[in-house]
Amino acid sequence: MTFRDPTSYVDLTQGKIHHIDFHIQVDFASRTLDIEATYQMQEPIHGSLYLDTFKIEMEEAHVNGRKLEWEFDENDETLGQRLHLKGFEADTSFILKFRTSPEARALQWMNASQTAGGKHPFLFSQCQASNARSIFPCQDTPSVRFTYSAEVEVPKELTAVMAAEQARGPEGSGLFIFNMPQPIPSYLFAIAVANLAFRELGPRTGIYAEPELIDAAAWEFAETEQTMVEAEKLLGPYLWGRYDMLVLPPSFPFGGMENPRLTFLTPTAIIGTRGQASLVTHELAHAWTGNLVTNATWQDFWLNEGWTTYAETRITEILEGKDSADLSAAYDEKRTYEIMNHVGMDSPATCLKVPGDGTDADSMTSQLAYTKGCFFLKECEYAVGRERFDDFIQKYMKNFQFQSLTTEGFLDFLNTHLPEVFEKVDVQTWIYKPGMPETWHKPHSHLYDEVEKVLSDYKEGKLPTREQVKDWHRHQILSFLQDLPKAIPVEDCKQLEKVLELEKRNDDYFYTYFYAICIASGYQEIMPQVEKFVEEIGRMLYIMPIMRAMVATDWARDRARPLFERVREKHHPVTIGAMNALLKKAGV
Ligand code: BES
Ligand code: ZN
Repeated sequence: MTFRDPTSYVDLTQGKIHHIDFHIQVDFASRTLDIEATYQMQEPIHGSLYLDTFKIEMEEAHVNGRKLEWEFDENDETLGQRLHLKGFEADTSFILKFRTSPEARALQWMNASQTAGGKHPFLFSQCQASNARSIFPCQDTPSVRFTYSAEVEVPKELTAVMAAEQARGPEGSGLFIFNMPQPIPSYLFAIAVANLAFRELGPRTGIYAEPELIDAAAWEFAETEQTMVEAEKLLGPYLWGRYDMLVLPPSFPFGGMENPRLTFLTPTAIIGTRGQASLVTHELAHAWTGNLVTNATWQDFWLNEGWTTYAETRITEILEGKDSADLSAAYDEKRTYEIMNHVGMDSPATCLKVPGDGTDADSMTSQLAYTKGCFFLKECEYAVGRERFDDFIQKYMKNFQFQSLTTEGFLDFLNTHLPEVFEKVDVQTWIYKPGMPETWHKPHSHLYDEVEKVLSDYKEGKLPTREQVKDWHRHQILSFLQDLPKAIPVEDCKQLEKVLELEKRNDDYFYTYFYAICIASGYQEIMPQVEKFVEEIGRMLYIMPIMRAMVATDWARDRARPLFERVREKHHPVTIGAMNALLKKAGV
C-alpha cells in the first residue's frame, strides 16, 4: 500500500530503500559524522529519487562507477530539504558520501563537563519523530523499513553503541561493527558514543552507563529479565535478540526511547527505589507495539503509544498488582481530562487519529495518544473479555510483524477478528471524534480515593500530616500534586515540601509538579532551585510544565527567556526546539 506521508518529502512510487551499509567516522572536534553509505533499493530506480535531509552536506553520489547529479530544494524548518538524486538507469544500488551538520537536530554533542565522569565527551542521537534525516538522507517516514549494517570509528578510549546487534567491538581499536538484520523504520536508527561500562542483568538483558553510574543503574533495572518474561506472555516471542539499555546524561529529552535492542534511558529514572520500573516496561513493550507493528504515519501515533501504554498497564498489573495498576489508571484519567481541557475538548488535537495534513510530526505526538489510546483498547477488552482480547493481541502482533500499519488497517483487522467490539464500543467516536465519549469504563482506585480525601481536607484548610502520606505510592503523590489547586499560599508550599518529603523521595517528577505550583503561587525565593533544575534536566516531560508555568505567571515571565538562553548550549536540539516554540507562542 502506498500513501502520502505529509511529514516527508519522499515519493514512494519511485521505489523504497531496502538496506543501507554505513561507514561512520565520529569527529568530536568538528561535531560531525562523516558518512559513506551504500543504499540498496527494493526495486530498480528510473530517473529520480527524492530523499529527506536536514542540513546534510553532500560530497559525492555515484552508482556503478557513474556519477549521479544531485540538487537540494529550498530548506523548510520542519521538513528540512528535499534531496533530488538524478540519473538512475534501472539501478538498485548507489553510494552517497556526506557529512552531518554540527546542528543536526538528532544529535547532541556534549562536552566532558556535561557527563557524570567529567573526563570524556558524549554523543547520542534521538531520531523520533523526524530527525533521522539530519543523520543520513533517507525516506524518513515510518512506512518504510530497511535493514542496515554499520562500521563506526570513534576515538580509541570511547565505546560506540547502536540500536543493533554488535558484531565486533575490538578492544582498544576504536572500530565498532554493527548489524541490524530486522527491518526498521528510520526513526528507530540510534547511535551513542561515550565512555561506557556494561553490566549483564540476565541472559538476554544488560545495561550500559558511564562507569560512575553503572552500579546504581544495574540495581535500579535488575528486574528487566522478569519484565521480558511477562511481556512475552502477553505479546508473543521477543524477536529482536538481546534487550539492552543505555543510560544517557540528564539532558536526554525523554524518559525513554525504544530504540530496538537498546532502549535509551534518562538518568532521572535512577532513584534508588526501582520505583520507575514501569518506564522500562513501557519501552520494552514497544519492542512489539511500535517496533514490530509500527504506525505507518505520525497521524497514527496512537497505534504506537496507545498500544504500548495498554501493554504497559497489563504487565505492570502482573508485576506490581492490581491496586497499583488501578491507581495509575485513575491518575491517567485525570491527566487526560486536564490536557483535553487545556487544548479544548473539541480540539482536533484530542482525536486519536490526528486529522489534517500537517508537516510537523512532533505536533502529532501528543500525550493523549497514550492515555486515550490505552482507554480505548481497554474498552475493546471489556467488550469481548480478557481471554478473547489476549488471543487477538497475539494474532495482531503475528499478522503485522515487521510491518507498518495505519489506523484504518488496524480497524479492518479488528473488525475481521472481533466484530462484536463494534457493537459495544463506539469505535468511530473514540478514533475520529475529539474529547472523550460520554460513557466508558472509568477507572476506580481506592488508593486514589485516599488521595481525594486528603485533598478535600486540604481545601477545607487542613494540611496533610506526614503520617498520612508517608507510605504513599509514587502515583498517589503525583495524583495529589496534580489535583492541588494551581496556586496555593507560599507558606503551604513550604509545608508540603516537608510533609511529602520530596527531597528524600528523590523523584524529579514530583518537583515538576511542585515547582509549577510554587511559581503560580508566587514563591519567588525558590526560583534559583527551579532554574538549576531546568538547566540540569532535559527531560521534556519534567521541564516543559515549569516553562509553561513561568510564561503564564507575571513575575516569572521575564525570567523565561534568559533561562532559555542559558540552557541553549546544554540541552538536546529537540528540547531546545520545543522550548523555543513555547516561548515564541507565549510571546516572550
Ligand atoms: N517513543 C516515546 C518517546 C517519543 C515520543 C519520542 C514521541 C519522540 C516523539 C517513548 O516510548 C515514550 O513514550 N517515553 C515516555 C515514557 C513513558 C513511560 C510514557 C517519556 O519519555 O516520557
Ligand atoms: Zn512510548
